[in-house]
This record gives sequence, C-alpha cells and structure tokens, in this order.
Amino acid sequence: MRILLINGPNLNTLGTREPEIYGTTTLADIERMVGERGAGFGAEVRSFQANAEGQIIDWLQSEQAGANGLILNAGALTHYGVALADAVRGSDLPTIEVHISNVWKRESFRHESLLSPVVVGVIAGLGAQGYLFAVDALARILRATE
Ligand code: DQA
Repeated sequence: MRILLINGPNLNTLGTREPEIYGTTTLADIERMVGERGAGFGAEVRSFQANAEGQIIDWLQSEQAGANGLILNAGALTHYGVALADAVRGSDLPTIEVHISNVWKRESFRHESLLSPVVVGVIAGLGAQGYLFAVDALARILRATE
C-alpha cells in the first residue's frame, strides 16, 4: 500500500507561520508522523510539498500510477486551484482533504473548497493530528477495497 502526502503553498513554513492558527508542529514533523502512522498499517508514505500549483500537479501525475491513496492539504490552492482539483479528480486516487485550521471558522473565502467535491472526506480544525486521522481513514478505506 502506498500513500501520497502532498502539502501546498506556505505549508513549508509550518512551525513558525501564524502558530496561533497552525500550531508549532513543523512540516518535517508531520511528514515523519504520517510516515510512522502509515508504516503501522504496512503502508509506504511518499511526501511532497511545493508552493507552485504546477509543481504539485507534475509530482502527482508522476506518482499516481504507483499509489493507492492521497492525503492533501492544498493550502490556499484549496480555494481557487481549479487545475489542482482537476488533477486530483484525474488521478482517481481516494483522497482525504486535510486542513490544520477550521476553515469554516475563518474568513469566508476559506469556506469554499474546489477539492471537496472530488475527495472522499475532509478533516479540518484538528491541528496536525488531522493528518494522522487521515492516514487511519485512508488505511481503512484501502483495506475495505482490497
Ligand atoms: C489551510 C487553510 C487554508 O485556508 C490556508 O490557505 C492554508 C492552510 C489549513 O491547513 O488550515 O494555507 O489549508
């Protein structure tokens, strides 16, 4: 079982970026935690972060054939990234959308997600832990379809 973990723009600065909203866990911490959680399910996790939408799409397209599922925090691309949403749909990978913050408690432009219609489910507002719940959910979904 192989799970892809993609983080979008500005998530490379987790740890120092608006810690009152995003906490102090770094992206390296998250990638390690997700890798360990995945390993507990016998899954290999491949991680990628980029600030540019095209780089994320290129990486997803290069990895999707060998993968079983996707965990995606697209950052602000969530709200306007039409090409990324198309790429996720096109990948055909069961996808869990993750947001560290509760986007519905925040500015109204964060209430819309172009990704939500193409994912299995959304986890938001549970901090960095949300990524771990996404691994748990994806492992269950993938086991059920084995
Ligand atoms: C985010 C929420 C987005 O609105 C924001 O642009 C981010 C992070 C989150 O994890 O809470 O960059 O996806």
